Amino acid sequence: MPEFKKPGAQVQSTGGWPTLAGTKPAYASALCAFYVGDSFVLLDALAREIDRLRGGKRSHVITDPPYDEHTHTKMLVRKEQGLRAGLAYNEFDTKDVGFDSISNEQILAAGKLFHACANGWSLVFGTDALMHPWRVAITEAGASVRRQCLWVKSNPMPKVLGDGPGQGHEPFLASWHTAKGLSEWNGGGRAGIWTGTKDSNTFHKTQKPEWLLRSLIENFTNPGDLVIDPFAGSATAGVAGVRAGRRVILIERDEKMAERAIERVRAAREQLTLALADGRGKQTEMGFAIEEREAKKAEVRAARKARRL
Ligand SMILES: C[S@@+](CC[C@H](N)C(=O)[O-])C[C@H]1O[C@@H](n2cnc3c(N)ncnc32)[C@H](O)[C@@H]1O
Repeated sequence: MPEFKKPGAQVQSTGGWPTLAGTKPAYASALCAFYVGDSFVLLDALAREIDRLRGGKRSHVITDPPYDEHTHTKMLVRKEQGLRAGLAYNEFDTKDVGFDSISNEQILAAGKLFHACANGWSLVFGTDALMHPWRVAITEAGASVRRQCLWVKSNPMPKVLGDGPGQGHEPFLASWHTAKGLSEWNGGGRAGIWTGTKDSNTFHKTQKPEWLLRSLIENFTNPGDLVIDPFAGSATAGVAGVRAGRRVILIERDEKMAERAIERVRAAREQLTLALADGRGKQTEMGFAIEEREAKKAEVRAARKARRL
């Protein structure tokens, strides 16, 4: 594992990404900027830059914020091997999710910040219990909830105690930035249900599968749009976004997690370069390469101009 560089020390190419509230991207390429810090502070700063950053395209928030306190403290896992239905609750460990839960006040604040940064969709994952608080926050901020959607897990965890149905889905709210007019998406008449497996090779405790984020990004956004994930975790949205040729801003406050997530985004980027080099690149990936080349040219032009001044 390469040593983690403090925020700002690892900038490869700024690609025009801004410093937000004194924080430079810890990783930056033409398509992706990764900030290590508190999203409530950084989104507030991002809102002031957002017009320039979207450059005539749409910006969207696609994110999986922390969950309610109950979910964080009461998730039960088996202490010993094997399913032993009938164990008393005190024989089970509570699951350490690895990050703090979100409060109703934070949800209200996040709803406003998402609205300030998105002029397209916001897709917000949460537990069933949090769908109502998120709906209130998003609506109060001025956006319009168009659908509560579901990821239906085709390989869900069995209910350990065997005392009722297990959890086989995760909900998310799909909201358009304004209540006026029609929202835009590429999914035609399809229903808001995505069915498929969890990934097995994960390093974040609540890591979303890449196929899911890729499908959401392709359905709800267009090439060149800006996708913002302010609770990035392992950077699943970032990897899916970069592979789909979208520009992505990621924020994660856990430095150790950010270190691994940045490696994941970097590896995805390198795979793309290899695919392009041996001709396996897809149309969007070609677009991505062209965009990166153009961003590099713009940087060189800006540096020349600065030298002349
Ligand atoms: C539910 S997880 C996201 C998992 C992600 N969807 C994935 O596929 O890996 C939420 C993440 O938000 C991060 N987080 C919590 N509060 C934050 C904050 N105020 N600013 C930035 N990140 C935060 C946590 O450290 C955690 O990694």
